[in-house]
Amino acid sequence: MKKIIVFSWLIVHLFNATVKADEGMWLPHLLGEQVYADMVKKGLKLTKEQLYSINNNSIKDAIIIFGGGCTGEIVSKEGLVFTNHHCGYDAIAAASSVAHNYLKDGFWAKTKQEEIYAKGVHAQFLVKIEDVTAQVNEAIKTIKPEELATKLSGVLTELAGKLVTKTANEGRIASFFKGNQFLLFVYERYKDVRLVGTPPESIGKFGGDTDNWEWPRHTGDFSIFRVYMSKDGKPAEYAADNVPFASKSFLPVSVKGLKDGDYTMIFGYPGGTNRYETSYGVKLKTDIENPNLVELRDVRLKHMFNEMKNDPAVKIQLAGNYAYVANYWKFFDGESKQLLKYKVYELKQKQETEFLAWAKGKPEYETIFSDLEKVYANWRPYAKHRVYINEGILGSPVLAMAASLKALETTLSNTNAKPADITAAIDAAKGQYARFIKAENVASDRNIVASILQLFYKNVEAAQQPKAFFADLKNMFGDLNADLTYTNFSKSLFESSLLLNESKWNAFIEKPDTAALRKDIAYKTATAFTSNFSNNYAKYSQEFAGKNFALNNKYLKGILEKNIKSKLYPDANSTMRVSYGNVKSYEPRDAVKYSHICTLNGIMEKYKPGDYEFDIPEKLVELAKNKDYGQYLDKTVGDVVVSFITTNDITGGNSGSPVINAKGELVGLAFDGNYEALSHKLAFDKNLNRTICLDVRYLLFVVEKLGGATNIIQELDIRKM
Ligand code: ARG
Repeated sequence: MKKIIVFSWLIVHLFNATVKADEGMWLPHLLGEQVYADMVKKGLKLTKEQLYSINNNSIKDAIIIFGGGCTGEIVSKEGLVFTNHHCGYDAIAAASSVAHNYLKDGFWAKTKQEEIYAKGVHAQFLVKIEDVTAQVNEAIKTIKPEELATKLSGVLTELAGKLVTKTANEGRIASFFKGNQFLLFVYERYKDVRLVGTPPESIGKFGGDTDNWEWPRHTGDFSIFRVYMSKDGKPAEYAADNVPFASKSFLPVSVKGLKDGDYTMIFGYPGGTNRYETSYGVKLKTDIENPNLVELRDVRLKHMFNEMKNDPAVKIQLAGNYAYVANYWKFFDGESKQLLKYKVYELKQKQETEFLAWAKGKPEYETIFSDLEKVYANWRPYAKHRVYINEGILGSPVLAMAASLKALETTLSNTNAKPADITAAIDAAKGQYARFIKAENVASDRNIVASILQLFYKNVEAAQQPKAFFADLKNMFGDLNADLTYTNFSKSLFESSLLLNESKWNAFIEKPDTAALRKDIAYKTATAFTSNFSNNYAKYSQEFAGKNFALNNKYLKGILEKNIKSKLYPDANSTMRVSYGNVKSYEPRDAVKYSHICTLNGIMEKYKPGDYEFDIPEKLVELAKNKDYGQYLDKTVGDVVVSFITTNDITGGNSGSPVINAKGELVGLAFDGNYEALSHKLAFDKNLNRTICLDVRYLLFVVEKLGGATNIIQELDIRKM
């Protein structure tokens, strides 16, 4: 990317600011005087060094990447971690069985011996951040801009590997402002993390998907883990004699409570936003991408739910995947609605017109939008098809498994493949299969396959369909417009594919043979679709990605140049950020005003005995009835406060993030965003955007009064004043 040079104005941007209230996920090491001054103006009582320091312990040292996609915070000197229930969900489900159902009944370790190793859950600590823009630009100078979309990540991984040499550390280079700046993040990864406590799901996921992404909200969305290290104090794989992590820094916990207007700050790892998205991207999303994704997920979820609701074993088996799919099913549906409601497309067009006025006479920028228009027009006819592959065909576990075997087939049929390549491909297939068969629920998947194929036939452009597949289907199973055709086909797929028969699979993978694989009905079905797409349409997808990246890269370069005097924050990209704001009520629509808090009494109002989403444990009902609140009563409110909302700017990945008061104490855990601001990835609305936070006093109340885990309470540094 020759044209990308490190301009000193990039650095200027990150240091000088005219700050917009509440909006922005800031890099904690580059707050600059103006952002920091604004934090202080809003109420912050800490120094910059207390927030982020390389040489001294600071809040940054208490914040971890939890399990790859969430945030957690250290709350004791022995590595105790608070995060969300939905972040610990897979680990809790994995530790559960029908006999020891921690998902359903909760779990509280009363001693360290009782803590349960959560395989695969890692804790990553940030060691330092370095600007490596010059090195990256050097490494990519011979790559064409349109090739960067596919090549950049490989270059960044390779360079990070070269730059980080200490064996215990790992590096990741993240791209900022769409490839206009690059920072290296160095982490230390701890692989022995253990489950310490979780409320029953009826508390941790109270309100389920009905209440997900909504305020008012009464979910006790927390779980508790502990990081372990080797006896000599290093990051280590699991070992029975590992010892609790000796925390450099941990957050004290405040039980004083919050008022409307109080300062709040949230540290964490927001996954992704696209605030500089163009009008073209917004339109593609609302016209094609979101509605098709939602329709396909809708079908999958219905079939899964039908099997889960009556069988506790299936519920445990599918719970994690179901929650994952459901979360963004509701998100993307709401996102489209809000993007349209707030006219975000028109808003972006207006910004583009302004940009063009500024760009007049600057040849580098003048044609960005006319070029983008062509790029989007070329891609648009195939966009739905791609969603149908990714969310449809690959949304069926068995078809996704089958499609993944294409790699094995390719290796086996390559006469030049080395024995080591073949062994590697076989091992990969074995690993894939082990995960698949453990998670496979035949009853739901059979219905998913039938529905997805039928939807594909009905909705994807006829000219783009795999014609031979549907011709065969018609010959063998009849009318392509009849439901029964698809149900019968799916039934026969599940009866005869070697993927659904473990002994046939074992025999196959011991001596894999391409002829047998090519004959398999699941393999034939999956690859009919994926090969049709990759042979005929993937080129358009790549061309679109390449040109879109290059044009957006230029657009962002222009935006930075145009706004040289004001501070722009970079989009979220799974790197550590801090956002600051305050507790605040809001008015979602005409005549409605939402309070800034929800209470235990509100849980009782929503309580529906026996309901899938709104039941609660008997013991919580008792505690509420007897007003047995202990030290967690909010005296002003006269009840236990369950949750509160703030104006902080966060997004997915921030789940589990600490909500910190002006003095640096933990007051809550961020766990969701509100429905009215589901367009927040593309546009921040300062009137309507709210972060939904668990009040830490409700967390402590549940731990102590419901779980009886006073050991956990005693481990914390609780501040009452
Ligand atoms: N919406 C939350 C987030 O993305 C996840 C909530 C999980 N709960 C649920 N009912 N699916 O952070």
